[in-house]
Amino acid sequence: MITNFIAILTLCIFKMKGPLPFDVYIERFPGKFTKLYHKGDECDQEQLINFEAKSVQVMFIREDDKVVYATHLAAILDDAIDYPGKLTDTDVVEIVARGLEITFEQVLEQDDEVGENLRWAQSQVRASLSLITKDLSGAMEIYRTLQQDFDLAKHSYMVMLFSLILAREVGYENEKKLLQIGLGALFHDLGQTRIDEELFRRTKLTPKEWDAVKDHPELGIKILDHCKGVTTEIRQIVLHTHEQINGRGYPNRLANSQIYPPAKIVAIADTFVSLISKTHYRQLSYTPIEALEIMRVDEGHFDLGFLESFSKVFFKKTTAA
Ligand SMILES: [Fe+2]
Ligand SMILES: [Fe+2]
Repeated sequence: MITNFIAILTLCIFKMKGPLPFDVYIERFPGKFTKLYHKGDECDQEQLINFEAKSVQVMFIREDDKVVYATHLAAILDDAIDYPGKLTDTDVVEIVARGLEITFEQVLEQDDEVGENLRWAQSQVRASLSLITKDLSGAMEIYRTLQQDFDLAKHSYMVMLFSLILAREVGYENEKKLLQIGLGALFHDLGQTRIDEELFRRTKLTPKEWDAVKDHPELGIKILDHCKGVTTEIRQIVLHTHEQINGRGYPNRLANSQIYPPAKIVAIADTFVSLISKTHYRQLSYTPIEALEIMRVDEGHFDLGFLESFSKVFFKKTTAA
């Protein structure tokens, strides 16, 4: 039987409390893995410093242990939120960024661990909230890290981050509510995974192909239907994010008053992130200032009040940094 391995952060192994919940390997040569720690072993900080000195930033576990790993990452993030300063912002960014693929894969696999998956996603949202509580620098660091290549998980994560920033700016304070907004943003494009990837790489689509693309919000809802703990609020965000204030959006061409307000927030973050990122069909990304200008002249698309608030928070905080 072939064993598949996945890379994990060395840092995370040493932040785990107590005995290791899985075997840990290092890759001595490409494709050749040697067991370094056994399940049940304990690691200490001194060993971590040693590995860091040798620039060993990545270790490996068996793919079967992925869910256990994700659960432990969530616990590390929870700990980082409860005890600020335990991890640096850069470490939090690393952990969150590395965990993205696992979150997405797990939700898409729709296995029995879905409750755990959602808890993991929530930890990412909570960690992100704590990152942006101080200022925009945490968010900007993630943006700089993830901006370089287009990937659905990275796009979704950035949309989540900027949605939270805007939501707080326009007065959402309740952590439960912010969590819902963050999760809705994180999953707003989940349905894309059920559509031929090729369609998202093209600049020109036939009407039929465009219809297929417009199905992605509803396909996302279908995936989330299998996830326990996904609230009506999260579903509404996923379903309404591609609607437009002028009623020309999709999938239901909803009018302004029919659109769930948090979805209007995610819609702004979504377009903003797309514009500041490189995409499959556009190798050039816009600066945040250019992106906001493009969005301003796209009349009738966005909620103008929210768009103004977004510009304000953005300029206020980036120029102060
Ligand atoms: Fe989308
Ligand atoms: Fe999107």
